[in-house]
Amino acid sequence: MAEYIVQMVDIHKWFGKVYALRGVDFNVGFNEIVGLVGDNGAGKSTLIKILSGYHIADRGEIYFNGEKVNIQTPKDAKKLGIETVYQEQALAPHVSISRNVFMGREPSKFLGFIDKKKMDNDSLNVLTDLGLKIKDPNLVVETLSGGQRQGVAIARVLYFKAKLVILDEPTIALSVKESQQVMEFMKQLRSEGISVIFITHNIYHAFQISDRFVILSHGEKLADVRKEETSLDELISLITSGKSKSEV
Ligand SMILES: Nc1ncnc2c1ncn2[C@@H]1O[C@H](COP(=O)(O)OP(=O)(O)OP(=O)(O)O)[C@@H](O)[C@H]1O
Ligand SMILES: [Mg+2]
Repeated sequence: MAEYIVQMVDIHKWFGKVYALRGVDFNVGFNEIVGLVGDNGAGKSTLIKILSGYHIADRGEIYFNGEKVNIQTPKDAKKLGIETVYQEQALAPHVSISRNVFMGREPSKFLGFIDKKKMDNDSLNVLTDLGLKIKDPNLVVETLSGGQRQGVAIARVLYFKAKLVILDEPTIALSVKESQQVMEFMKQLRSEGISVIFITHNIYHAFQISDRFVILSHGEKLADVRKEETSLDELISLITSGKSKSEV
């Protein structure tokens, strides 16, 4: 069995004259939450967009489950079980929770009719598994709190058996309580055997739940440390100094 679910090796990316990623190695283990942190413009979103098929690297290799893969489109990534949860765009606000869970992948009955009962039952089950206290899967998403919305987006990837879930700033617009709820969802994913990449500017959030931290700075990897090898203070000083651990 492979050691990592994902290995990105020597990834380079240019946007015109902007050299956004300068030979980054990035791994994600099985059952692991990796906190991907670093300043604005460090290259975090670019790196995960390469993994989720929205950008193609100019150089570098990606291995999934130990095998070299060629991810050219978001569809390629999804086929492998790599799912991304974005801040807002993830859900359709005017339709029901269960419709949102199944969006584009609705189960059908005879004659191709949508199996609404299955959608409602399965949505409710997966939301309950996640610890979301929602009783009615027919509620319209716009009536939910920010944390609950993130929960619905995460329930979807849980239901469709993602192997790796990427969350880019999932707590950015949320209250303290909602953020805690979303972090509980991430732990739930890990306990279901799903690996998580958690991108955030909030180092306190990252520290609370990540098993490992990767710090990017100006397109380069500055540090890659396990939680037990570091401290919150050290991470903060690494990020703010922009220097690697060996240089500090
Ligand atoms: N589509 C694009 N076209 C041109 N330049 C881009 C594009 N996407 C990103 N960049 C540039 O690449 C660099 C890395 O950006 P990226 O969005 O990956 O940073 P980030 O670490 O996610 O930052 P933030 O924390 O602000 O989200 C920046 O200089 C950015 O301006
Ligand atoms: Mg970003």
